[in-house]
Order: sequence, then structure tokens, then C-alpha cells
Amino acid sequence: MSTVITATINGRAFRGEVEDHELLLDFLREDLGLIGARQSCEVEVCGSCTVLVDGLPVSSCCYLACDLDGKVVETIEGLVGTPFHEVLSDAFVRHGAVQCGYCTPAMVLTAKSLFFDDLLKDEESVKKAMRGNLCRCTGYRAILDALMDIAASEPTVELRAQA
Ligand code: FES
Ligand code: FES
Repeated sequence: MSTVITATINGRAFRGEVEDHELLLDFLREDLGLIGARQSCEVEVCGSCTVLVDGLPVSSCCYLACDLDGKVVETIEGLVGTPFHEVLSDAFVRHGAVQCGYCTPAMVLTAKSLFFDDLLKDEESVKKAMRGNLCRCTGYRAILDALMDIAASEPTVELRAQA
């Protein structure tokens, strides 16, 4: 069985059929070629498959593509070239928050949702909001430092207004 859905994916209108059992992660990677969402644990533990649906992070390995109907989806491919990507990637690179890079697209998308939710305030709020994203390389300190650096910077006010 399949379902016709309409959604906005990275700013573009999508209308098409998806299999009723198809996972969002497979839909993005295999049907649309958006491979920035990583495949790892597949049981909603590691967060590496995170994408934003209506501005909030979801584990695409445990989300049905047919549930996207009427929703807005953002993957790392859609974030590239936006002011959010510029600010986040600059801070991540400056603080050495990217090592192997496997977790990075998901980390950056979850970090973007902090603007939307106005959670980019203090370390405790950031830690709580990022707790679903695991990283085997950085020890998290560099990621936290990058995000706290953004929280303290001028562009944050502008970006919060756009989120
Ligand atoms: S692959 Fe989805 S949470 Fe790990
Ligand atoms: S940078 Fe390697 S898993 Fe996070």
C-alpha cells in the first residue's frame, strides 16, 4: 500500500507516493538522494539520522514518511547556504567540534532547532536539548563551547527572529 503526500522539503514543494511502511530516513536517502541524514543505530538512540520536521528534530529512522503529509522538512542539504549554516559551521570549526563528521549534520540541525525554540541560552538548556545526539569523537565539550559562543554573539538575536 502507498499514500500520496504533499510536503515541503528543503524549501521545495513535494507531492508523490510513499510506501505506507517506508521510513523517513529511507525516503530521504534512497528516494530523494539526501544522504546527509546518517544511518546508524536505526532504533532512535544515536540521533545521527536527525532531520527537522516543522522546525523540530525527529529521528528519521523511526518516523514514517507517510506522516510527513502537510509538513515542512529540513535536512542538512537545505540548511547549506543559509545564515544558520554559516554561523553554526563557523563556530563548530573554530572550536574543533567536528572530527570524523559522522554526527555533524544531525548536531547542526538540532542546534538550529535551539534558535526556533529559543533554547540557546545557558549550558543546561543546551545540554538537555542536545542530549539525543551522540558523538563518539569530540567528548561534547567542543560542541557545547561552539554553541555557547553563538549564544553570546550578536547574530543570535537576528537569527532567533528568523527561526
Ligand atoms: S539512526 Fe536514527 S537514532 Fe540512530
Ligand atoms: S565527530 Fe565523530 S561522531 Fe561526532
